Amino acid sequence: MKPVKVGLLGLGTVGGGTVNVLQRNAEEISRRAGRGIVISHASARDINKPRICKTDGIKLTENPIGVVTDPEVSIVVELIGGVTLARELVLKAIANGKHVVTANKALIAKHGNEIFSAAQKKGVMVAFEAAVAGGIPIIKAIREGLTGNNIEWLAGIINGTGNFILTEMRDKQRDFNSVLAEAQRLGYAEADPTFDVEGIDAAHKLTILASIAFGIPLQFEKAYTEGISKITREDVDYATELGFSIKHLGVSRRTKNGIELRVHPTLIPKRCLIANVDGVMNAVLVEGDAVGSTLYYGAGAGAEPTASAVVADIVDVVRVLTTDPENRVPHLAFQPESLSDTPILAIDEVETAYYLRIAASDETGVLANITSILAENNISIDSMLQKEHGSDNKSTIIIITHTTIEKNMNTALQKIHALDVVDGDVTRIRLEHLDAD
Ligand code: HSE
Repeated sequence: MKPVKVGLLGLGTVGGGTVNVLQRNAEEISRRAGRGIVISHASARDINKPRICKTDGIKLTENPIGVVTDPEVSIVVELIGGVTLARELVLKAIANGKHVVTANKALIAKHGNEIFSAAQKKGVMVAFEAAVAGGIPIIKAIREGLTGNNIEWLAGIINGTGNFILTEMRDKQRDFNSVLAEAQRLGYAEADPTFDVEGIDAAHKLTILASIAFGIPLQFEKAYTEGISKITREDVDYATELGFSIKHLGVSRRTKNGIELRVHPTLIPKRCLIANVDGVMNAVLVEGDAVGSTLYYGAGAGAEPTASAVVADIVDVVRVLTTDPENRVPHLAFQPESLSDTPILAIDEVETAYYLRIAASDETGVLANITSILAENNISIDSMLQKEHGSDNKSTIIIITHTTIEKNMNTALQKIHALDVVDGDVTRIRLEHLDAD
């Protein structure tokens, strides 16, 4: 059988990694796919730029439209990132009857509903394993491996750059900007690194995971997103003292009122495996009613880990090239006509525990005032720590609460903040036990 011809959009970090993996492992890959796979046509913004891969035998162009309309190409691999041009090219590829593989989480999270619908009509596949958690086959695990389960919740460290920054700051006392610059050098960070540090990249990925876990349309605009830029060394140290790690977590949970969809810094008990996932590594914890807890771990960014997922998708597409479109695994795991309209919960309605850090005057009654405000709002305290500063008659109060509704916590925090004895803002970081108790 003739080799399958692939057209590549983008020859940067992931594009270069994909060329290298396909060339280096060509024999093993064709034994698995049942036929050879060659990249015949590739586009790049500047075809004369130095690359991490060899491009001999590949027709190079600066015109991506030429790739998506090339009659020889059966599979288009989109690795240019961004949403505007990428959306246009992917829709054009689909219209031209090409199957598509993409690592573009923003594209899938924001335009996936439109793209899958177009692909469905045309009978082509759009595969996006590399869009979430780099090299970890998490899409396949949830969509296929856990297909017998009712998924109850999932929680993941799904941004490698953010995890790398938090780890280096904690372990090596490095400053935020120098670690971020290193992540950019290593090809981990997004073109706009605020996507990494402000949680947007993680929210794109969580949106995709929630859709395939719960059978709901992609709803990125309803995700609650909070980044890591306000995390201080002080909070990292107090969390450690109390037996927790601070991780930037994406959490999605099915509740009786709707589905939680939220990304924020989170205290996690240190004894949880996921609390010990450091550096650029990602991990996703998925709780299914039949299987219980399952944990998926691996490199969440970088040229070859991401290429590993891209190549797996190419092989999946090659294997189904002759399969009846009706019998393929649905894009979002559930049959398109069976997607549910369960609402996404507003962050106010989410139930979680909290870590609070309050700077206050060290005088009689301060603690009583704070604890009675919490009690009036139905918030129960789990543990507390008070640090006196000595000289300035000030103290830092750390409170860990039991689970409560976020709107109650917001009301309590407004009242605590308004107390004369409280200085500045109260730091609030959400806390999840992830069933470690
Ligand atoms: N910027 C992303 C990260 C790349 O750091 O996780 C992989 O999606």
